[in-house]
Amino acid sequence: MRLSDEEKAMRDGRDGPAVAKAMDLLVRYGEALGAEALLETRNVCGTVSATTPFLRDFAYQKGGLDAVFSEFNLDSQEVVPIPKVKAFSSHLQLGFDPHHREEMGVSEEIVQFYLRSEASAARMGVQILNTCTPYQVGNVPTRGEHCAWMESSAVVYCNSVLGARTNTEGRESTSAAMITCRIPDWGFHRDDGRRGQVGVHLDIAVETVEDWGLFGYWMGEWVQERVPVITGVGQVPNLPKLKHFGAAASSSGGVEMFHLVGVTPEASTKEQAWAGNHAEETRHYGARERAATLERINMTGIDRKVDYVMLGCPHYTIEQIWEAARLIEGRKVHPDSALWIFTPRAIKEIANRNGYTRVIEEAGGKILTDSCSAMSRAVPPGTRVVALDSMKQAHYLPAILGVQAWFGTTEQCIDAACTGRWSA
Ligand code: F3S
Repeated sequence: MRLSDEEKAMRDGRDGPAVAKAMDLLVRYGEALGAEALLETRNVCGTVSATTPFLRDFAYQKGGLDAVFSEFNLDSQEVVPIPKVKAFSSHLQLGFDPHHREEMGVSEEIVQFYLRSEASAARMGVQILNTCTPYQVGNVPTRGEHCAWMESSAVVYCNSVLGARTNTEGRESTSAAMITCRIPDWGFHRDDGRRGQVGVHLDIAVETVEDWGLFGYWMGEWVQERVPVITGVGQVPNLPKLKHFGAAASSSGGVEMFHLVGVTPEASTKEQAWAGNHAEETRHYGARERAATLERINMTGIDRKVDYVMLGCPHYTIEQIWEAARLIEGRKVHPDSALWIFTPRAIKEIANRNGYTRVIEEAGGKILTDSCSAMSRAVPPGTRVVALDSMKQAHYLPAILGVQAWFGTTEQCIDAACTGRWSA
């Protein structure tokens, strides 16, 4: 790999042992990918915390958070002191919400460790956003900006909707990028990697959040890791729809970028989206595909009695919390059911000020932050059947927790929470 003088100096220890380890890691990683050089990034989203039982035990046994950071963030068995970050860096979601530890089945001791870990991240200079949707709360990269992000739903949003550039990075590469401002130059950082590869034409109107989730799931299953160019888009989708669409497509497949012709920034025209490429294949999405996808995602749903309704995957926007509050105002969550809504902390603060938290809590629901049921493996005790308005969560929760899942609209989910039954 070609390194600049600056990069060689970092690799050779000019900026301390952690930076040298990070450069070594990035060079090994880049060479494995076939990258010829590193590029400069000043926008990183990753995770440096130690909130899983495994990492916590490791920290206790091996000498604290420095040991965790060395081993799991820098791939170094030699323990090096954690340095401050150089790039603007944001923390992604974590294993639980420390303010709802009892519901999430977490001990006070674990919360205390979580808070120490969070303080350590803050000392490094990492922004404590604690969300899978950093683009909602202060990290909105600009078009063409080179980023190093983890979290598949955030990566596809970053590339497609914002027109910024990132591959799906991991814990180690994002940590190395935080302290070096470097990441391998390959994949979605390069014009070639962003060109359309397969075509999708919409034969039906795709308009609601539910519609976009179903379409994304169908599309991801088919295109896998290729870049789709989508035509036939009618009503322009907003943030919740695009967020749901990308998350669904990156769950059933490995979609990291899509072009919506006439909507997304690198697809003002079909020609721009294809950028000289030709479609390897084109498929149509219509009523039959939609119905089959809905049937498939609801395959595990057998019992109609709903124990738990989870909303907020990816983390809810303030618009979605507003909608949920309007839908539940004056009603009560059924005594045999539970409603948890996940959102970033900063958005919960707005929900508090607007009175939405009060409305939802008066109804018997809760707003949680930092995590979700798939990440935390936490659901209300005795949960066997869940209702969800997220294709991503409907994809993962039955597999992770062995529960039955019903997928539908937010309205259907709120109804299920209040009646204790799935009646869609
Ligand atoms: Fe976010 Fe959890 Fe969904 S981290 S994207 S809410 S699986």
